[in-house]
Amino acid sequence: MRLILLGPPGAGKGTQSHFIKERYNIPQISTGDMLRQAVQDDTEIGRKAKFIMETGGLVPDDVIIELVQERIHKTDCEHGFLLDGFPRTLAQAKALSLTNISFDHVIEIDLDDEIIVKRLSGRWVHPASGRSYHVENNPPRKPFKDDFTGEPLVQRDDDQEVTIRKRLSVYRTQTQPVASYYLSMAAADKTNTLKFFKIDGSQPPLVIFEKIAQELE
Ligand code: AP5
Repeated sequence: MRLILLGPPGAGKGTQSHFIKERYNIPQISTGDMLRQAVQDDTEIGRKAKFIMETGGLVPDDVIIELVQERIHKTDCEHGFLLDGFPRTLAQAKALSLTNISFDHVIEIDLDDEIIVKRLSGRWVHPASGRSYHVENNPPRKPFKDDFTGEPLVQRDDDQEVTIRKRLSVYRTQTQPVASYYLSMAAADKTNTLKFFKIDGSQPPLVIFEKIAQELE
């Protein structure tokens, strides 16, 4: 199974990706997580990406495309994978099409901007696993500690309101056209291999996941 998960920042892509990867046993490829790791490791890509990410912009297409191309050709992707946060521009989507890798589903999670701002400003994450919590909607069992490891949770540098609003504006101008690109591609696919569906991200996480699972199965 090969999937693409689209949606604005904070729509719940990471949350749903974790459910999907557990149930379907496929790797989650999150370009955001890969870039944060590169920043932490102080690699050349990390140094290029750090300021762009902190200020809510998009890392250049050539950097991201190379990163993803390399990752999806690793052996753990042979039986499928889930792309979370890629493609984010039409140039990235077109580069992915050129690989001739076929996808089964493109899922777009939709959510209102004001709900997103509330969600992201209350988000705390466990960096090692990518598990994400929310102070009100999804609190950890012990305050500011990961439920599984007990390690401290942290807030992301780009989860400040001014940066969240910049990320939303970048999403609407640069990434929304990617959803339209796949919608048209699915509509034109006479073999019905590629399916596109959009889901309301304001429902509880497990309700969203069960709806996604119904579509996948
Ligand atoms: P990335 O890490 O991909 O961030 P994002 O797309 O902005 O998405 P988020 O991780 O913020 O949100 P999410 O949708 O995963 O929501 P989550 O599940 O965590 O990218 C970061 C940066 O890297 C970009 O800004 C860019 O600079 C760069 N980058 C990455 N990919 C790139 C690319 N392809 N090209 C160029 N640059 C790239 O949930 C959010 C919160 O809500 C959590 O607290 C969660 O617990 C809570 N929550 C989740 N679901 C629900 C629900 N249903 N109800 C209530 N609360 C919920």
